[in-house]
Amino acid sequence: MSVFRDDFLWGGACAANQFEGAWDVDGKGPSVPDLCTNGSHTSPKWVTTAIRSDRLYPSHEAIDFYHHYEEDIALFAEMGFKTFRTSINWTRIFPTGMETEPNEKGLEFYDKVFDCCKKHGIEPLVTISHYELPYALVEKYNGWASRELIEFYMNYCKAIFERYKDKVKYWLTFNEINCGTMPMGAILETGTIRGFEGPTDKVPDNKQERFQALHHQFVASAEAVRYAHDHYPQFKMGCMICFITSYALTCDPADEIANQKAMQISNWFCSDMHVRGEYPSYMKRYFAENNITIRQEPEDAAILKAGTVDFYTFSYYMSNCITTHKDADDVGGNIIAGKKNPYLKASDWGWQIDPIGLRYTLNEIYDRYRIPLMVVENGLGAYDKKDADGKIHDSYRIDYLRAHIEQMAEAVKDGVDLMGYTPWGCIDLVSASTGEMAKRYGFIYVNKFDDGTGDLSREKKDSFYWYQKVIATNGEDL
Ligand code: BG6
Repeated sequence: MSVFRDDFLWGGACAANQFEGAWDVDGKGPSVPDLCTNGSHTSPKWVTTAIRSDRLYPSHEAIDFYHHYEEDIALFAEMGFKTFRTSINWTRIFPTGMETEPNEKGLEFYDKVFDCCKKHGIEPLVTISHYELPYALVEKYNGWASRELIEFYMNYCKAIFERYKDKVKYWLTFNEINCGTMPMGAILETGTIRGFEGPTDKVPDNKQERFQALHHQFVASAEAVRYAHDHYPQFKMGCMICFITSYALTCDPADEIANQKAMQISNWFCSDMHVRGEYPSYMKRYFAENNITIRQEPEDAAILKAGTVDFYTFSYYMSNCITTHKDADDVGGNIIAGKKNPYLKASDWGWQIDPIGLRYTLNEIYDRYRIPLMVVENGLGAYDKKDADGKIHDSYRIDYLRAHIEQMAEAVKDGVDLMGYTPWGCIDLVSASTGEMAKRYGFIYVNKFDDGTGDLSREKKDSFYWYQKVIATNGEDL
């Protein structure tokens, strides 16, 4: 007997900017990732203030899901997907974010995508904003630093809620909102980069701006949830957190406190805002010590309280360690770097692989909130090479995913209410942190390379057949 519930949502996850391509087609405007060049593990990608002819912008073509969506969704269906997590590219619907009327062509594209999912019995799970802020809002407003963005976001939500009310039930307001608590979040999440051009690891840090921007995002998220609950009672509204599990490196109590603080700021703060609808008490001290003053309007507290989420989703790739001891080695990561854990191995990009950490994390989150959870991103970014038979035998990816699913099963046995699992990049796509194609996560290989070449053909990897079997047996045959 499977430990996973009968209606468990097995599937996969992608984000519009990382796989759609067609960046300026059918009226779409530029969003922040369209101004991001390619990079690599060792050389950071750049963000530019205008499109430069001497640079490569991977989002512009990506894997061209825009023109391959029927083929790709059919492949997802062949694997047995029950759900498909994707995002709507804000600038397809509102090219600058500031229009009053939506772009019909953009709306039609997602009609076709959701209809195709429906035809295959796949339930869409839609991220409203996945690192896809209209660039015009960066230029005019410095992104979420300005309160005006709440209204623009609500116009966007109202347009897509009404249009897709009969096609989409599950919504996530912001991808990895807690990324805004970290310097890299200025590019990915808050868009507080007006006028900045340069490598993404050199973006000037302004904590006051980032946390003020986050406040506006929390209010926007809560408004969207409240509006959805009032107008579309069939909707289920969720949050999405980049869960950065960390452990104290030593049993020195000072390390334990340092780790507790890191977990509060990086994970629990944004989670608490979404689930409990108010600023947690521990943030007062953090704001005071970092000279941060959050400007709030009198109505904000009530909005935050009224717009708490129905379910909690998160990404989980790795864990790291926190210490007060200066001699520990650093570890890599997508948006945060901690210290190396001597018990764990790491991916080629230095992300420490920790399946047991997923069980631990699921328990921690569920104990705290007691609402349904979903793992909406997990996976191994790896170099895939074709073997002599011309196929990709990605046993390393299967090992990674198997180990994590085993730990999800343990967490369910521990009592966690787990709704579903959508591994990241179910089809190869552009890496968010490095802009590479070489960092592949998919069950489906896409013939597309870092220099922009490739015929975009799709091929099944070994993991494709393995995941098909996992879904068919509801996670029993791993
Ligand atoms: C998550 C993001 O942080 O990690 C995705 O939500 C991203 O957009 C994924 O692609 C994996 O990170 P990367 O940098 O390997 O693409």
